[in-house]
Amino acid sequence: MAAGEGGAPPRSSDPANQPPSDDDYYDYYATVAARSMLNVARTELRDVMGVDREAVRVAMGGKLCFRSKVPEPRGALTSLRAVERVGCLLLLRETTGKPRGETPQSLEDLRALVVGSDFKKASRLLGLLGRSSAAIKFRVTCKRSGRVLQQHSTSEIAASQGKALEATLEGLGWRASLREPDLTITVQLSDAGVLVGFDLAKQVDFSEGNISIKGLDPVVSWGVIRATNIQAGETLLDPMCGKGILLMEAFRICSGVKLVGYDVDQSMVEAATKNTGVLDGEVQIGKVDATRMPLEDQSVDVIACDLPFGFHFGSVSENKELYPRFFREMERVLKRETGRAALLTNYENHGTMLKCLEEASWLRVLAERQLLLGRQKCRIYLLCAEGGSFNVEEAKKQLFGIEEKRKGKERWSKRRRLERKGLQLLV
Ligand SMILES: C[S@@+](CC[C@H](N)C(=O)[O-])C[C@H]1O[C@@H](n2cnc3c(N)ncnc32)[C@H](O)[C@@H]1O
Repeated sequence: MAAGEGGAPPRSSDPANQPPSDDDYYDYYATVAARSMLNVARTELRDVMGVDREAVRVAMGGKLCFRSKVPEPRGALTSLRAVERVGCLLLLRETTGKPRGETPQSLEDLRALVVGSDFKKASRLLGLLGRSSAAIKFRVTCKRSGRVLQQHSTSEIAASQGKALEATLEGLGWRASLREPDLTITVQLSDAGVLVGFDLAKQVDFSEGNISIKGLDPVVSWGVIRATNIQAGETLLDPMCGKGILLMEAFRICSGVKLVGYDVDQSMVEAATKNTGVLDGEVQIGKVDATRMPLEDQSVDVIACDLPFGFHFGSVSENKELYPRFFREMERVLKRETGRAALLTNYENHGTMLKCLEEASWLRVLAERQLLLGRQKCRIYLLCAEGGSFNVEEAKKQLFGIEEKRKGKERWSKRRRLERKGLQLLV
């Protein structure tokens, strides 16, 4: 589909019923984070961009390529959640199964392909998306997998294509700018072909790989927090918060939550302070022992915690003391009517957990779910105060009922992505 092949609807012979002309259709690419998102991405592209599911082609090892009009309203583009980015497709030359001559053998071959792309149309698309297409500052990058043009470095390839485009695009008012480009034209080379395009919109979720100091897997954090059915206005405490990832996820799920994170380790307190510094909400982080917290009795709605396994922090035998002391403190600070807790630990501490739960007659186990964290066999315990009014069915529907038998988190990952705010326009 070199900006032109396939995708536009067939023309009717009835002049009164003519579909829009080819000129109204633009070529796009989109990327997904995992194969499991392909189907749902196709459905979203159909609903938002009006593209037939079958007309979405997967090319160049995973890019979704399709032809569509500019979405109406154009802001609809930002409602896409299943895809990671959407871009304007300038050129797609697939070479798998084609004669060797189809693959560019030199920088000149590649240049001929790249400068031949329909930049006028791309310029028009930018205009329709609300970006004045005059005076566009662009730069060119190159990504390569495989052996194509291996005699040149990717920066050499990018520089040569950038130079060629600078001359070609002058007439459109576009000029090269490495420092502050409005858009980046990417030349993607692989043994499967050549794809050239530039991003129009991408996901900007702050916890999607953008956490400055990494800790617990954000998808697992999503599962733990989602299970608690946290609501705006409630207080969520992570009493052993490490780098604060559960707090980040809680904010992501429900921005009106009051967050409290404690840890005994000063370096963790600093990491959590740094990570949560990007949140525009009420966050309190402190160096505090989770068995003696400076909190009023029954002041916390939700406790979410990735307990120390005794692997990186403490030991399994130390946990036999720590967990029961923490459970007693939890009993003191958690609200009696509505309080609930989601706790994560590994199987080596399961015996200690069972003992704590047996002793805590004030607590009810609502659900448990196994989970593989790397090679660690883990378990999430969802608890609430005995007689509390927590909506168990809702929590089960959310996670446990449908996934109790599961160990992985692929479905969580999918659901978490589909809860994102959507794409942000880049142009
Ligand atoms: C499994 S880690 C939590 C990791 C965290 N969820 C993250 O994503 O970074 C457990 C944390 O418990 C802390 N910890 C251990 N004993 C504690 C105690 N008595 N009070 C508070 N924090 C404690 C450790 O310093 C460690 O940061």
